[in-house]
Order: sequence, then structure tokens, then C-alpha cells
Amino acid sequence: MIERQAWASNAVSAISISAIKEMAIRAAKLEDVASLTWGLPSFETPQTIRRAVVRLLDSDADIGKYTLPDGLPAFRQAAADAHRLATGIEIDPDRNVTITAGNMQGLNALFHVLINPGDEIIVTDPGFASHFQQIRLCGGKPVYWSLDEESGWQLDLDALVGLINSRTKAIVIVSPSNPTGKTFREQDLRRIGQVAREHGMLILLDDPYCHFCYENRARYFNLAAVPELSDHIVYLFTFSKAYAMTGWRIGYMVLPEALKKEVLKVHDATIICAPRISQLAALAALTEQPAGVQEFEEILARRRSLICQRLDHLAHVFQYVKPEGAYYVFPRILAEHEDSLEFCLRLLDAARVTLTPGSAFGPTGEHHVRMAYCVSDGTIEQAFDRLEQYFGQ
Ligand SMILES: Cc1ncc(COP(=O)(O)O)c(C=O)c1O
Repeated sequence: MIERQAWASNAVSAISISAIKEMAIRAAKLEDVASLTWGLPSFETPQTIRRAVVRLLDSDADIGKYTLPDGLPAFRQAAADAHRLATGIEIDPDRNVTITAGNMQGLNALFHVLINPGDEIIVTDPGFASHFQQIRLCGGKPVYWSLDEESGWQLDLDALVGLINSRTKAIVIVSPSNPTGKTFREQDLRRIGQVAREHGMLILLDDPYCHFCYENRARYFNLAAVPELSDHIVYLFTFSKAYAMTGWRIGYMVLPEALKKEVLKVHDATIICAPRISQLAALAALTEQPAGVQEFEEILARRRSLICQRLDHLAHVFQYVKPEGAYYVFPRILAEHEDSLEFCLRLLDAARVTLTPGSAFGPTGEHHVRMAYCVSDGTIEQAFDRLEQYFGQ
């Protein structure tokens, strides 16, 4: 018999489950934990969407079937309409739209298309931990582009060009950002666009949080609205957060035609298509514009005020930059600690509060924690009551 050392490939062995899920798994094993770990909104999928699906389950004989790998034509058309409304850019749903099983799946397909072993993808640091893991899983190298905490987590444009070489394929941008809550400035995003054109790079705009901009709505800038960049941008929208549909696993991407052809090969070989039932649910979200969706932003704005107030009372423990969008805050740890992981494990054990260690979001994230305020007001209050009790006010 052949002796095997381990079943996992080198690529899988080299990555780990994200600290976000790791903390959620640990917390699930304990009773009565106040969790600010997971960016899972407390909201229910709106009734309008649920009812549309119930009706279709009764009336649509095809609801249990595959669709083509790029998704249902009516949904792609609705996505193209939504994109035109958001950006002013006219796109062809057949040539430029692909339905995904959420942005994670869409990015995973893109990284498969783009990455040869050793190729590089620039990511912000701090940035979304799962991007780093996906890039590694495809044999690529995430290249960290440090954000500047002093200036409120702005992009450091002077440093960007120095990160680019012949192996650089793309740059991933999330704005409003996870984990810092920063909404990047239009002038900085446009500059990234210029750099991408000059160096023949792609920009992957992962955009789960555009609906959560609060008083900074006018400052949100969608780089996909710049016509000259259409050959250099893939725009990924997910219904997960905006429509409280995390479990439906559904989104769409807008991309250059040549790239779509390659992505479809990956879909065909991996997921075939996004679930039809979720495509129909998301189509209902776009066409019926459910009541309640705008309310999510109002509720999150209130929770942002609440978490900032509570952080202000722990100024000897955390120092934070007020988040401008999304629903995360990323404070620096001022209290004594070894590293952010030790700090979070200690809080889970001693205070029954889960936070996500900042080190999971890149080297610049060390000595920080991420707090997600998409959970109920009661959970935020409970977590902070316990933190106050543990650290003293
Ligand atoms: C930046 C970013 N991208 C993607 C996702 C996941 O999106 P989806 O549910 O569409 O896969 C998240 C979820 O937290 C996120 O913060």
C-alpha cells in the first residue's frame, strides 16, 4: 500500500480557516457569548423577496433546474439595468454580466482565471482576510499595500507603483472597506485607475457595502463609473449585505467580454451556475425593490453611533477611527497584550466576548481588533458591558 503523509495539498495546507470563522467556531462551543466577530447582519431577508420565492416554488416548474453558467437572462438584464443606474454605464448583459454565487465565489473564479503560480495580486493591508487566502489557494501571492492609520486609513498612493512588477495581475479594492470602514476618496480611486491602465493591470472592485455609506453617501465613488476604465475593471456586487441575503449566496459581476469567456469555463468546471432559486430571489430584489432595505442603513447608522459611544468610554483600552461606511470598526488595542490573537482569546475566555484579531487582516492589522456592529443593539450593549467590567471604566 502507498504510504501517504497527509491528504491535503500543499496549497490547502498553507492556508487556514479565517480568524473570523475561527472565533465564531470557538464561540459556538461556549454558552452565552456576546459576539462582534462575524459580519453577518441581524436582519431577515425582506418579506417581498421571500414571498416572491414562495410564489415561484408553486408556479415555476423549472425552479429546481440548472441555468446556463452565466445565469438567467432576465436577471442579467436586471443587473445591467442596476449597473446603469448606479454608474451611468451602459453594458451588454450577454457580453458583460455573469451571475455569481456571491462575491467570494466570483472572486475565486477570477483568481483562477488570472493567476499563474507566483503571480501577484495587490491587496490593501488591512484588507479582507479571505481575499488573501483565495489568492494563495490559486498559487498566487497577495502583496500588501499598507493603509495609513494616521490619516484615518487612507490609501497611500505614493507607495502603490513600487508594489507593481511584471508578475502583478490585479489590485483588489473594497470601499467602503472591510475591516476599517474607510470610504476611499474619489481622487485616490481615479489615480488607481490611471496606474492600472499604465501598467496593464485589472482592478477588482469587491463592493458588498455600497448601500451602507451613512452621512458619507456623496463621498462614495464607484470607479466602475469611469468609461475609460471599462477594460480594466471587474465590478462585483453581492446581495448578501444590502438585501440581507447572506445565505442565498448570490451576486453578479460586470466584466470585460474576454474575461467573461474565461470565467464561464471556471463556472462550468466548478459550480455550473449560481442556484436558480437564489437568482430568482435576487431578481425579485432588483425588480420589486423591497421595503425595509433603506431601513437597514438607518439601523446600522444608529448602531454605529452606539458602538462609537461605547468605545469612547473605553478610551484607555481602544483607540479608533470613526468608520465612514460598511459596518465594522477597527480599533487599535491600547491595553496590555501580546498580540491581537492572544488578546481576543483572553477576552473570549475571561469576558465571554468575541472580537476578531486584527492580524487576520494583514500585517498592518496587528495590535487591532475588528468589531462588527451589524449585530443587534442588545449584543453590542452586552459585549461592551462585559468589556467595561473586565477592563474597568
Ligand atoms: C469585502 C467582502 N467581500 C466579500 C464578502 C462576502 O460576500 P458574499 O457573501 O457575496 O460571498 C464579504 C463578507 O463579509 C466582504 O466583507
